[in-house]
Amino acid sequence: MKRTRKQSKRTPTKLAAVVLAAGKGTRMRSQAAKVLHPLCGLPLGAWPIEAARLAGASPTVVVVGHQAGEVQATLSAACPEADLRFAIQAEQKGTGHAVMCAWRDLERSGAEHVLILCGDVPSLTQATMRRLTRAGSGADVALLTFGASEPGSYGRILRDESGRVTEIVEAADASTSQKRINEVNAGIYCVKTSFLGKALGTLEADNAQGELYLTDLVAYAAKSGREVVAIGTSEEEVEGVNDRADLARAAARLRARINEQLMRGGVSFEDPFATYVDAGIKVGRDTLLCAGVHLRGKTRIEPNVLIEPYSILRDARVGKGAHIKAHSVIEDADIGRGAKVGPFARLRPGTVLERDAAIGNFVEAKKAHLGKGVKAGHLSYLGDARIGAGTNIGAGTITCNYDGKLKHETRIGSSAFIGSNTALVAPVNIGSKAYVGAGSTVTRDIPDGALGVARGRQRNLDGWARRKEDNESSRVTGEKTEKPKTRARGKSKRRSRAN
Ligand code: UD1
Ligand code: MG
Repeated sequence: MKRTRKQSKRTPTKLAAVVLAAGKGTRMRSQAAKVLHPLCGLPLGAWPIEAARLAGASPTVVVVGHQAGEVQATLSAACPEADLRFAIQAEQKGTGHAVMCAWRDLERSGAEHVLILCGDVPSLTQATMRRLTRAGSGADVALLTFGASEPGSYGRILRDESGRVTEIVEAADASTSQKRINEVNAGIYCVKTSFLGKALGTLEADNAQGELYLTDLVAYAAKSGREVVAIGTSEEEVEGVNDRADLARAAARLRARINEQLMRGGVSFEDPFATYVDAGIKVGRDTLLCAGVHLRGKTRIEPNVLIEPYSILRDARVGKGAHIKAHSVIEDADIGRGAKVGPFARLRPGTVLERDAAIGNFVEAKKAHLGKGVKAGHLSYLGDARIGAGTNIGAGTITCNYDGKLKHETRIGSSAFIGSNTALVAPVNIGSKAYVGAGSTVTRDIPDGALGVARGRQRNLDGWARRKEDNESSRVTGEKTEKPKTRARGKSKRRSRAN
């Protein structure tokens, strides 16, 4: 039988996962459950879910408790590719109890092995996950351990004379000498499903915290002659997030990883420590990201793009060779090949710049479609507008799209010329190759090739300045002189009095 790519990539035995995420995370001092806090573009709890998915686990059962509804909705949205199930743990009675809550789904999945992860451990690498699942496929229990600089509240790993792991003792239950052990439990396991089912049935809350400890399954395995394998890893990789300082440290670590991966793929960074790229964003080769650039959400950048300092892009698509100048803010917009944006431009959702279009400083666009080569260089608002190829938008052009109740569209043909300081009162159509005189307030359509001028007619009053000066000096000397005339036909009362 021909094997599909998906099948051939699968780990040798069928793997399911459980992610423990029912805790509140009191030390975050937050209204939001800990696993909801954002970390490089994903909620914290999405990181272990993705680690499980990349390790080949399906399904992943997430145990939720605190703010269960919100956690479920947020994690489902953040991990659309994961095969997720949710199990409710209404009362947090310990890690063993949390896995019990997921047991029905795990058993039903028919998986031979179960990966057990914590919702607040985001930095696991694929390499470590591979080592764990590989060890797990040949043992009853495989667990990650590390040498802790400060063993603190971690569970201590006990071994017998031959070096075999016999037990995990929680800090709260450990003797003084056991507390000195610095090989500790990371809380991440790969367990044979059949054994897990048996072991869960043996857990008892006869400990200092009165909880059902998942860690007790290690002692049960060792006692019943099962194979327990400890896989060493680095503290950094399994460090959990308990407070906001931990969260910031995890963000710095993951950011460094994301940026490093992009650099290895041919992307240049002016300063990788000051560039913020969300997880999963694709950036093409020979693109240069300058300091202070933020690439958020589902942004995609093609090759050879230059993004200057302090530009923020969210859900933006940027075509080959485009140039985003400093301090531009772009959200849910398409930037075509070779297009130029900024400095200080703001592109709001629904904006499309076709190839070689240019948006300059202090230009805001919203749902504006700029055809090939359109230029809007300075100080404009283009909202709900369609602009044909090659048109020039003068400085200070405003599309007046809102009448107080509804939004209306402005349509401009190709190769048109909109003079500076023009207000286009939508709905309105400006034809192709049409011209609009500077300073116009356009309320009616302008046909193709026509010039539309809609402004007060200019008058020049010859000699006005000299007459004004004379008048002012006569006020000082008390002499009577001629007041500067405006040659206005209807004289005002004041003027006739002065005369
Ligand atoms: C656990 C381990 C400890 C290990 C440490 C590593 C146990 C008994 N101890 O301790 O050996 O060194 O992790 O970080 O397992 N959770 C639930 N429901 C519960 C309790 C916890 O979902 O009833 C979740 C938490 O939200 C968290 C994870 O399980 O994501 C770990 O729980 P936590 O209370 O942090 O366990 P530790 O005491 O740190
Ligand atoms: Mg913990």
